[in-house]
Amino acid sequence: MKIDEHVLKTYLRAPEVFVEGRGATLYDADGRTWIDFLSGIAVSALGHGHARLAAAIADQATRAIHVSNLFRHPYTEEVAARLARLTGLEAVFFANSGAEANEAALKLARKFQRTAGRPERSSFLALEGAFHGRTLGALSLTHNEKYRQPFGPLLECRWVPPGDAGRLEAALVEERPAALFVEPIQGEAGVRDVPLDYLRAARELCTRTGTVLVHDEVQAGCGRTGTFLAGDAAGVKPDVVTLAKPIAAGLPLGACVVARDFAHVLQPGDHGSTFAGGPLACRAALVFLEELEEHGLQQAVVERGAELDRGLRAIAREFPLVTELRGRGLMRGVRLREGAEEVQQDLYRRGLILNRTGGDVLRLLPPYVITRDELASGLALLRAALAARSQPARSNPARAGA
Ligand SMILES: Cc1ncc(COP(=O)(O)O)c(C=O)c1O
Repeated sequence: MKIDEHVLKTYLRAPEVFVEGRGATLYDADGRTWIDFLSGIAVSALGHGHARLAAAIADQATRAIHVSNLFRHPYTEEVAARLARLTGLEAVFFANSGAEANEAALKLARKFQRTAGRPERSSFLALEGAFHGRTLGALSLTHNEKYRQPFGPLLECRWVPPGDAGRLEAALVEERPAALFVEPIQGEAGVRDVPLDYLRAARELCTRTGTVLVHDEVQAGCGRTGTFLAGDAAGVKPDVVTLAKPIAAGLPLGACVVARDFAHVLQPGDHGSTFAGGPLACRAALVFLEELEEHGLQQAVVERGAELDRGLRAIAREFPLVTELRGRGLMRGVRLREGAEEVQQDLYRRGLILNRTGGDVLRLLPPYVITRDELASGLALLRAALAARSQPARSNPARAGA
């Protein structure tokens, strides 16, 4: 029997079988090691084998794993209060994933418009390159035609190019959508930075046109870029922000966090989820948030992010193969002129895990706990793979400002 014979082929799995990890290092069954620059696609913020997290999960498992949302639980309430404070928003709907957090935002936006006497405002606007998840609602907003085409008809959605505030204004006025969805940094599109002044313009235009502004921070949020929200860099508060991936450090948890004016839109029975926001996931989320806020982890992201930036700039100067550096903090993209897939595979062989998005962009999403040495070793592997692929140039005028 083939090993994965009974697993649906929705993922192209690499052959590596990792059995455990410590920090930002993963081990296979033969004891071979890899440096993890991927964190299970932006999830394992506390790395692997985190002692405090493991102890909290083990302790919680002996108390209550699940009680249902029919009852209150202190950890659920504490995580919600922290998220409200950290986002500057008001209240949280818990989900189990990024797509589910976005589903909540979609429903909330439609009900908000309906309650305001504008039931015709049921369509959505998103940005070219957008990825918001794979459930039918979230998929409707995902820009890549290849992902959507087999599953229509979907919700009505239009896309505008990020960076063009004029086109955005025209679309908001003509389409009168329920909501605009924006990823402040578009992870799946190749770690594309949405300009900060565009984020500010989008805020202003949504307020002016009565459009609900949703920031999807499922990948960029929760401290990864150096601030709790990537949108904080623009000084912008959306009406709704969606979070997931690292929020419970590897256990499934998502959150749809809403501003005060939206906190009473969803009423009992309007939305729900049996598992979401339960004691186990929230206990883990609490450990993550405490590490971030009280144990110096946010500061570590800022410091490692600066080291990563310096290392990547040096690599970009050395290799003309690198055409662009993207992202901030510990969410970085390295765009290559050619050969990104081969470089990624070569890196696996050399012992560095990362992946590729947008076709030609190597995506780096290391755990927040990565050490200075692990980061330096990973960068050395990246440099070696690029050296093997290209002729290093002494100076690369095209990258002089990189
Ligand atoms: C910005 C963004 N939104 C939503 C999702 C979907 O999250 P999930 O896979 O947890 O449903 C992703 C996943 O990559 C994402 O990057």
